[in-house]
Amino acid sequence: MSAQQVDLTRLVRHSIDSIEVRARRSGHTLESHLPLRLEVRADAVKIAQVVDNLLSNAVKYTPRGGTITVSLRRSPQNATEGVDDPQWAELIIRDTGIGMSEQELEGVFENFYRTEHVRKAAIPGTGLGLAISRGFVRAHGGDITVSSRRGAGSTFTVRIPVAGPAAP
Ligand SMILES: Nc1ncnc2c1ncn2[C@@H]1O[C@H](COP(=O)(O)OP(=O)(O)OP(=O)(O)O)[C@@H](O)[C@H]1O
Ligand SMILES: [Mg+2]
Repeated sequence: MSAQQVDLTRLVRHSIDSIEVRARRSGHTLESHLPLRLEVRADAVKIAQVVDNLLSNAVKYTPRGGTITVSLRRSPQNATEGVDDPQWAELIIRDTGIGMSEQELEGVFENFYRTEHVRKAAIPGTGLGLAISRGFVRAHGGDITVSSRRGAGSTFTVRIPVAGPAAP
């Protein structure tokens, strides 16, 4: 993996711009809350792929008229915050879409996993996006988590260390 200084705000805004036309055409509202700048050490190509996949999922699995909210912020890695504490860059992508039940959520990061509902509805996809995304984020020393309820939307949270991946 090649880590360089990356402004996540710029990267996320670029992903939002890329999906905006598609979102508008399908009647979605896109909202974003981004800081002016958030510099991290990361592999820009891989993180862009993660953000693109999460945004395209949010659009794909949210019916017409839904809202997708993207928030980015810096947050402390430890509960007791100190001056030199490591920081996360935290990206939250929330949608008001079809959501997933507790049972459906179990396999969501597995290769080729697709919920039965999505397969029956013939929504296109291979079931690899989230598995690949999680691999990329973990290679940075971070992780992706999800909370969701069937019919009530999903929230995906990506955390990556601002300082970048630890040296191997
Ligand atoms: N935002 C979401 N809302 C509801 N279900 C979701 C959401 N994101 C993912 N899922 C469920 O998790 C499955 C896996 O998602 P993943 O992104 O890995 O694959 P995919 O979108 O089906 O295909 P692709 O490989 O093209 O990304 C989806 O098929 C869907 O069932
Ligand atoms: Mg996907």
